[in-house]
Amino acid sequence: MAAPEQFEGFMIHDTKKWTEFTKEKFTPKNFEDYDVDIENECCGVCGSDVHTITGGWGELATSPICVGHEIIGKVLRVGSKVKSFKPGQRVGVGAQVQSCMQCRMCKSNNENYCPHMVDTYMAPYNINGGNPSVKIDDQKPMKDSKGNQIFSQGGYSSHSRVHEQFVFPIPDNLPSEIVAPMMCAGLTVYSPLKRAGVGPGKKVAIVGIGGLGHFALIWAKAMGAEVTAISHSPNKKDTALQLGADHFVSSGDKNFAKPHAFEYDFILNAADMTNEFDIAQYMSMCNINGEFHNVGLPDQPLPQFKAQVFASNGAKMGGSHIGSKKEMLEMLDLASKIYEKGVKPMIETIDISEKGCSEAVQKVKTNKVRYRVTLTGFHKAFGTGKN
Ligand SMILES: NC(=O)c1ccc[n+]([C@@H]2O[C@H](COP(=O)([O-])OP(=O)(O)OC[C@H]3O[C@@H](n4cnc5c(N)ncnc54)[C@H](OP(=O)(O)O)[C@@H]3O)[C@@H](O)[C@H]2O)c1
Ligand SMILES: [Zn+2]
Ligand SMILES: [Zn+2]
Repeated sequence: MAAPEQFEGFMIHDTKKWTEFTKEKFTPKNFEDYDVDIENECCGVCGSDVHTITGGWGELATSPICVGHEIIGKVLRVGSKVKSFKPGQRVGVGAQVQSCMQCRMCKSNNENYCPHMVDTYMAPYNINGGNPSVKIDDQKPMKDSKGNQIFSQGGYSSHSRVHEQFVFPIPDNLPSEIVAPMMCAGLTVYSPLKRAGVGPGKKVAIVGIGGLGHFALIWAKAMGAEVTAISHSPNKKDTALQLGADHFVSSGDKNFAKPHAFEYDFILNAADMTNEFDIAQYMSMCNINGEFHNVGLPDQPLPQFKAQVFASNGAKMGGSHIGSKKEMLEMLDLASKIYEKGVKPMIETIDISEKGCSEAVQKVKTNKVRYRVTLTGFHKAFGTGKN
């Protein structure tokens, strides 16, 4: 079964009107050898969608734009070189849809750092991008019939067309609306926890209990660490403990860091407002040679701090970008196993529509979500689901 020639999505035209979604058709990338066509079923709403449509990270590279990069759907057809998927299979897609498949990063399970990556939305496509047998220099911009550059469009939409490396098989026992937010939020925190060797005997703090942070509590606990949730108000204490935190700290208290000096081997910061943080306080909570690791990407730069903050405990500061396919498959395996024991994320659903998208992004912007919204009801909204 082929996907339609044009896809349909809920789109934003202007960052000044970031709550005004309109349902419109758009031209997807050309169907190429490594592509998988997917009929979308639901999609999570990430903080990054809000940064993009509000212009917090800069102006739109193309307009209108369809955001969304936590997609679950069903395979409709596969390109001639696709090996691992068949029509009918349930799959997921995260925040990346293509990489070069030929650089050192792509060849070492670090394709999430490929310099030729294509983000799931607002990134330009090249012809034969992601085809390892075509040299990068020979991959020219992909244009539509009017000669305009084709950009990637995200998952608040009827269909997705994605390179098979960035399509993931979904374990049968995980409901779609629960697994959707794992495609970006889940992976983005799983990858740094894994790479930091988080496990039994390690003390980990998770800062910012939003979509990303709440997954981090679940994973860190499942990996066997002693976990502390750090939140900027006391409001989330009960749910943070329910999600797996052993301890809760409110960073709203002025000297909150003092009792926790030298305590954490790894602090994972998933908060969105690090620009307002007193970095010295956070760094002071790191154990000797510990790390303060940023996945949150606020609109504003980090605040200034003295180099001396590194001197008191030899700690490091780092960051990361989503994760690799290898890590995604590991994370899904873990999620599937702990789901059987009743461990699952806290997900709200909103049916997709112009109003539903607007409500969802405003809830994220005002920190009212507990803890992730998944947009659902795609088949009804787009008249799909009949295959
Ligand atoms: N690196 C990557 O690859 C990657 C991937 C996905 C997303 N991101 C970024 O990660 C960040 C979090 O995304 P998300 O989807 O989890 O967003 P989210 O659900 O909105 O969570 C953000 C959290 O930040 C904290 N926060 C909000 N206002 C704050 C304030 N004034 N002071 C201190 N903390 C505040 C809140 O946690 P508390 O109430 O607990 O303090 C909030 O829940 C965003 O910047 C997003 O763009 C990065
Ligand atoms: Zn995201
Ligand atoms: Zn590459």
